[in-house]
Amino acid sequence: MKNYKKYFLIFDKNADLHYLDSGATTLKPKMVLEKMMEYYTEYSANIHRGLYPISEKATEEYENTRQKVADFIGAKYPGEIVFTSGTTDSLNLAAAGWAKRNLKAGDEVMVTIAEHHSNFVPWQQLALKNNFKFVVSGEVTKKTKLLAINHVSNVLGTVTPIKSIIKKAREISPEICVVVDGAQAVGHMPVDMVDLDADFYAFSGHKMYGPTGVGVLYGKAKRWLEMEPTRFGGGMIKTVSTTESTWADGPEKFEAGTPPIAEVIGLGATIDFIKEIGRENIVKHEKELTDYLIEKINKIEWLKIMGLGISSGRLGVVSMYSEAPGMGTSHDMADILGREFNVCVRAGHHCAMPLHTQFGVETGTVRVSLGIYNTKEDVDELIKGLEKVWMTFIKK
Ligand code: ALA
Repeated sequence: MKNYKKYFLIFDKNADLHYLDSGATTLKPKMVLEKMMEYYTEYSANIHRGLYPISEKATEEYENTRQKVADFIGAKYPGEIVFTSGTTDSLNLAAAGWAKRNLKAGDEVMVTIAEHHSNFVPWQQLALKNNFKFVVSGEVTKKTKLLAINHVSNVLGTVTPIKSIIKKAREISPEICVVVDGAQAVGHMPVDMVDLDADFYAFSGHKMYGPTGVGVLYGKAKRWLEMEPTRFGGGMIKTVSTTESTWADGPEKFEAGTPPIAEVIGLGATIDFIKEIGRENIVKHEKELTDYLIEKINKIEWLKIMGLGISSGRLGVVSMYSEAPGMGTSHDMADILGREFNVCVRAGHHCAMPLHTQFGVETGTVRVSLGIYNTKEDVDELIKGLEKVWMTFIKK
């Protein structure tokens, strides 16, 4: 199995790091950091404003990234890509900018029980404040005007068959607007906007080996035309007078103020990195490791995988818990793994409380989430750490 750690500088200083928390944020490859350094040291100017060479260069790099993102996710036009601060910001923009303006009292807004809070709470709150009907994991009907759904669950790792769900939803409710949370998908599997036919698709740079502070909201061109900006300021206007303002025509309309320039440019390098490794190699590497991880976890009698303990139809995200009497909490387990084995996992509800409640695992789970830099040794160290957890709590 190939070892991709050499692309990531963090391992130079942390050779024994077993980073199994890519669902929270991925590590960043050297070429992304170098690209951001290039911006700061060679053309560190604001964009869309300066008529001098370094500003023009920064603008060009920024807009090139918009084109790269569009190509990467199979969008028809670069103008369908709006940069945000991350998935949460993207989903809030879809809610406040599109849904608030285009839905009316009584319309049904549906989410699934498996949503991250970022794709649950904005819709719940929007519905409460505007008298929309908020439905969780119901049947789509003619009344369902918006469906918000994840592409990959950040807790179960399951890949949602969104293409067929969207097709079916449109047959039942032709005007439905489908908003997809792609945060856990984009860095780990190919996505194609034309093929999926989502109205909006949100994701973050930092969960796909890119910088923090930058995200994307893809929207079909016609949906952007139906939207109002939610943030106002410089860079997003066409005209301003003392009595009224008009808005820029393109995606800038939704990018008020100075955007995260270095991060957007870094995101462009992230796409170059993914292409250099090869999307098919990423899928293959993570699949092999997921199989290995699940096989190992399934052998541990005192541990249960939340959801199905199988690797088909899922990416490398596994959440587990124990019902063994005397066993510590998910936080106790993660603490031992981190402190004693340098195995980094996430503990708790992973911003998905309704899902944990549904499974009756109120106390939370330990989540392992894989990235391209992981190896079988990382999984072996996790298993060693779990043995220590068992010895600590049960065989005192
Ligand atoms: N959304 C991130 C996670 O699932 C933070 O951990």
